[in-house]
Amino acid sequence: MSTPSRAAPSCNIARASDASTLSLAVQTLANGGLVAIPTETVYGLSAAINLEYAIAKIFVVKGRPQNHPLIVHIANINELHTVAIDIHPDAIKLAHACWPGPLTLLLQRSENVPMSVTGGRDSVAVRIPDNAFTRQLIINLGSPIAAPSANRFGKVSPTTAQHVCDDLQNDVDLIVDDGASSIGVESTIVDFTVSPPQLLRHGGIPIEDIEKILGYSIQGTDGVSRASGMLQHHYQPSCTVLLVHTDSEAQQLQRTLVSQYDRIRILNRCDNLPLYATLLYSDLRQADTDQIQALIAVLPENRGLGAAIRDRLTKAAGTGPPLPAS
Ligand code: TXA
Ligand code: MG
Repeated sequence: MSTPSRAAPSCNIARASDASTLSLAVQTLANGGLVAIPTETVYGLSAAINLEYAIAKIFVVKGRPQNHPLIVHIANINELHTVAIDIHPDAIKLAHACWPGPLTLLLQRSENVPMSVTGGRDSVAVRIPDNAFTRQLIINLGSPIAAPSANRFGKVSPTTAQHVCDDLQNDVDLIVDDGASSIGVESTIVDFTVSPPQLLRHGGIPIEDIEKILGYSIQGTDGVSRASGMLQHHYQPSCTVLLVHTDSEAQQLQRTLVSQYDRIRILNRCDNLPLYATLLYSDLRQADTDQIQALIAVLPENRGLGAAIRDRLTKAAGTGPPLPAS
């Protein structure tokens, strides 16, 4: 007997390579609409920063608390001075070395950035995405755009236009499809509003690379986290995610779980960390599509890109870090 297929949600998707898409996206944003934009990390749900009602819609559509600030996306380093003030020279140094790319700088907010974007804070998170379409969109719009990941709050981030469509359907006015995000995990966030700077979120640029550029080491944030992605429950699929350290541990756990679950899957791409990151959110989503009940994920070592993958898997499991490997 064939299983009934789920009706595909209807969405307004336009290809980035189509000649008319850029002007359509600019118009949509200028009119206060929401456009899902491709970036090298994950797809973002964008609005022009100066249109307060459009910014308000982002929070409604995502189901995101108002006090969770958004990242401001700019197209050129010169624009940094229009959205931030009192910028530490080391932040400028990092920007020159890493942008366009998966680095977000937390800086003092300029008055050009509405409080609604920053969740009422005096700081602003800024980055230049490594996607030519999205940078041209910002240039043609003539305004920076604010964009959180284009998923419902707490859920798995989207790395394809189809993921955005599956999640947000017609709550987003336009989805620009530029293929799968190449990096697959969100940007690394470094806080330059404190001295010395602190790491707020592991991401697409390993912290070791940042330390090499700066010439000193960066510690993680202390005290209560200021980044929503650092909540313990985030990036969560519907299936149970269980964490292990090695493939043999994964096999062993699978054997003990077969009496409990019909559909178990092991996720392990530790031999290729860039690929682990690129496919991570697709893999989590696929587990749900395939109605996997228990996904056993093997954690990579806590260095390089492995740190971001571990972080997302740990949040997906909705647990604290696993016990140290014995
Ligand atoms: O790669 C990325 O960063 C993607 C793409 C779309 O650019 N964006 C993204 O946005 O991951 P979002 O909203 O899912 O995560 C942004 C993180 C949140 O954890 C938020 O709390 C933190 O950045 N953030 C933004 N502005 C902040 C601020 N002023 N102070 C502290 N944290 C801030
Ligand atoms: Mg997010």
